[in-house]
Amino acid sequence: MKTGLIEKYSKFLPAVDKKFIISLNEGDTPLIRADKLAEALKLDAELYFKFEGANPTGSFKDRGMTMAISKAVESGTRGVICASTGNTSASAAAYAARAGVACTVLIPDGKIALGKLSQAIQFGAKVLPVNGNFDTALEFVKKISEENNITLVNSLNPFRIEGQTTGAFEICDDLGRAPDYQFMPVGNAGNISAYWLGYNRYKKAGIIDRLPKMMGYQAEGAAPIVLNRPVEKPETIATAIRIGNPASWKSAVAAKNESGGAIDMVSDAEIISAYKLLSKTEGIFAEPSSCASLAGLIKHLGAASIETGAKVVCILTGNGLKDPDSAIKYNECELKPVSNEKEILQRMGLL
Ligand code: F0G
Repeated sequence: MKTGLIEKYSKFLPAVDKKFIISLNEGDTPLIRADKLAEALKLDAELYFKFEGANPTGSFKDRGMTMAISKAVESGTRGVICASTGNTSASAAAYAARAGVACTVLIPDGKIALGKLSQAIQFGAKVLPVNGNFDTALEFVKKISEENNITLVNSLNPFRIEGQTTGAFEICDDLGRAPDYQFMPVGNAGNISAYWLGYNRYKKAGIIDRLPKMMGYQAEGAAPIVLNRPVEKPETIATAIRIGNPASWKSAVAAKNESGGAIDMVSDAEIISAYKLLSKTEGIFAEPSSCASLAGLIKHLGAASIETGAKVVCILTGNGLKDPDSAIKYNECELKPVSNEKEILQRMGLL
């Protein structure tokens, strides 16, 4: 039977006493080969998408949250708190519910996808919209967690990063080696840091013999690492990565430098175009922010080439169902009802 990540990868993760493990059998997400899209992009390489939307709460955050909440429970925590653009709050709320631990989430008022908000509410977390953006919310929760003995479950919590290393393990297990390139979105920069740590851990253990180039992409209006300065008022339609002062800034830059990769930015238009292309070509639905990975690959191919036969992985961090509004907003659809066969055939373009 499928177990959660803490049991599956116990050799590579900090130890957790079995009786404290809080898991929803996260991980083991599909690595989907995308030959049609590779061909459309004239990419003579093996292209794969790591579909993290298949996790229990629909995003990669569950990998880190199983570890962070288990460790919080092990330490006898009196409650957990996080700031979030949505996915962290959904995941924290779910794992906290399963653990029977109180959970508070601070979200940027009005700037979170409806699916994510509904998850946090449904799982019974205390949901507090903040007048301000993610960065403001993060400052609040850092202070409150320090002063009130409440466990912070943002990626500043090292157990979050530990859990998220498992994404790299799974990709290597599936490919039989590390990919040559990994493209991914960058927000608070924890995930790129975690993947890099994971690949290095597998290499040290002798399971892989090479490391991928880490290619991270921020949204143009929220690209502090690219600009090399904090962005006070980050703006992008990719609300999950609408972050102006990432917590794991330094380790993300280290991952880029050590791997010979890049951290670049993509425009909202490029993100939406990739979002639609992915679904229409491959039948995969990822939320807009996730598609910064594919948008990044497309941008990269405009300026450089990728070696024939290379293995290229794009991480799709969150499920498209998290954000139904964007699908409806950015696609053309006529939803006027039909009432007879003639109208149906007309709308099908057959008459
Ligand atoms: N993609 C999605 C769908 C996300 O939700 C996030 C981050 C990222 C990418 C970026 O990952 O922060 O590790 O660089 N979401 C956080 C949240 C900030 O609160 O849910 P990162």
